[in-house]
Amino acid sequence: MIDIDKLTFEYVMRDRDGEVDGFSRAIDEVSLKVEQGDFIVILGPNGSGKSTLAKHLNCLLYPTEGTVTVDGMNTHDHDKLWDIRKSVGMVFQNPENQMIGTIVEEDVAFAPENLGVPTKEIEERVKESLVMVEMKDHRKSSPSKLSGGQKQRVAIAGVLAMHPKCIVLDEPTAMLDPEGRVEVIRAIRALNDVENITVILITHYMEEAIYADKVFVMNGGKLVMCGTPREVFSKVEELEENRLTVPVATRLAYELQQAGVSLPDGILDRKELVRALCRS
Ligand SMILES: Nc1ncnc2c1ncn2[C@@H]1O[C@H](COP(=O)(O)OP(=O)(O)O)[C@@H](O)[C@H]1O
Ligand SMILES: [Mg+2]
Repeated sequence: MIDIDKLTFEYVMRDRDGEVDGFSRAIDEVSLKVEQGDFIVILGPNGSGKSTLAKHLNCLLYPTEGTVTVDGMNTHDHDKLWDIRKSVGMVFQNPENQMIGTIVEEDVAFAPENLGVPTKEIEERVKESLVMVEMKDHRKSSPSKLSGGQKQRVAIAGVLAMHPKCIVLDEPTAMLDPEGRVEVIRAIRALNDVENITVILITHYMEEAIYADKVFVMNGGKLVMCGTPREVFSKVEELEENRLTVPVATRLAYELQQAGVSLPDGILDRKELVRALCRS
């Protein structure tokens, strides 16, 4: 679905007069592949290049070096711009900036309308997209009346209405309360499980990474770790060297291990920890 090959990206820095003043490397030779139907999580501290990487996936940025291929299309191929944007939908951190309509339905209909989808089909797409994120009952509501978690789910529905094969979410839960975070993560998991949509979730909440098929860790523009959540989270020290903490249950299990309690590596949540402790 996505093939990133030796991607390097440099922002052009300009002085006050707009003259080029230098280059700042945000991504440094990153290669990774994502298969159709995968649930991928990208972790990394602030400034590690996650958003810059995400923006390459639907042609908001283009490689300085290397290539990005989406669904068989090279992002440098300008003729494919709209096909790529149809195939990969993006959801950003702040749901407020993604709301356009005065009622939820209009908001979700906006993108397919722009794509020239026939009216009858738009209605169907809006309905099915709102069902997928459990927001159908709010279809006539004003977006301003919704909670953060609900707004973000409407934003996701807006992307779904374009029938993407892949959806990239850049810290979609960062501005939400714990309840909103749970709702949004549940909706994202359902898209992947039920609809088989490829999901690339960028987050700094370690707990959200335990559902992934594969986790990638970035630091300083480089890809520094990758593996299943269990593989990645069993490397507690390496994660901490990359300025990341591990999920609370994983951390506690690790400290118990250090203190001599016999426990398996890479415990991911409280349930697993309790079970392992009862067994040991
Ligand atoms: N528009 C920009 N111009 C110049 N540098 C930028 C710009 N956006 C991001 N950067 C720099 O690129 C690096 C990676 O940023 P970013 O991709 O936003 O990281 P993350 O999403 O992991 O926090 C950082 O050093 C950041 O300061
Ligand atoms: Mg970012």
